[in-house]
Amino acid sequence: MSTKHIAVALDGPAGAGKSTLAKRLAEAFGYLYVDTGALYRTIGLYFIRKGFADNLPEHLDDWLPEIHLDLTYQNGEQRVLLCGEDVSEEIRTPLASRMASDVSAKPEVRAFLLQLQRDLAETHDVVMDGRDIGTVVLPNATVKIFLTASAEERANRRYRQLKEKGSTVSYEEVLADMKQRDYNDSHRAIAPLKPAEDSILADTTQRTAEESLSWLIDIVKGKIV
Ligand code: DC
Repeated sequence: MSTKHIAVALDGPAGAGKSTLAKRLAEAFGYLYVDTGALYRTIGLYFIRKGFADNLPEHLDDWLPEIHLDLTYQNGEQRVLLCGEDVSEEIRTPLASRMASDVSAKPEVRAFLLQLQRDLAETHDVVMDGRDIGTVVLPNATVKIFLTASAEERANRRYRQLKEKGSTVSYEEVLADMKQRDYNDSHRAIAPLKPAEDSILADTTQRTAEESLSWLIDIVKGKIV
């Protein structure tokens, strides 16, 4: 792995504010922001479209070569293309979230996405957000941050976002979903969600987004100078 480029690995559970913070952190340093969850979501969407929403096919390796994934950037926003089609919005549905979690537990899928993620870090300075960036994808990352917050606070933030978008989902449902996703992500056999030994733990439960951002900026500055 090249040491030429700077890599900030930002891992943590769903709803910790990773994507917002990773994006703003990348902007602050002029690095490329890579949302790796979008890649898993896109593979999930592919299988939904193929009619496998309830049960993934047995031999995923037969299907994966058909999946052409590309990341592009428009006005600093990451867009994800599935076989040339921009699916950046469609991968955000609750069904796509569930399928992303299902496909992300499959070793074939993780292996399929590994090189794509490493190639991006080989060729750019990146802030990469995910679950296993510091542990598996970029074990030599310049900075590893494990971003977390209590499940209640993360559910609360997600609930407010959903309500703003007009959703009628209850706080209890959001919390239950959050806990289920935490459980799935941290108990799968392959690349479970856990902090890398050399990661810096950043708990944002008591911090606003702005406070968290300046905290992360200081952490990164401390590592790159
Ligand atoms: O961060 P997100 O909610 O968009 O991620 C969607 C799913 O993909 C989530 O269940 C965890 C999984 N994921 C993963 O296993 N590894 C990553 N590097 C990123 C996401």
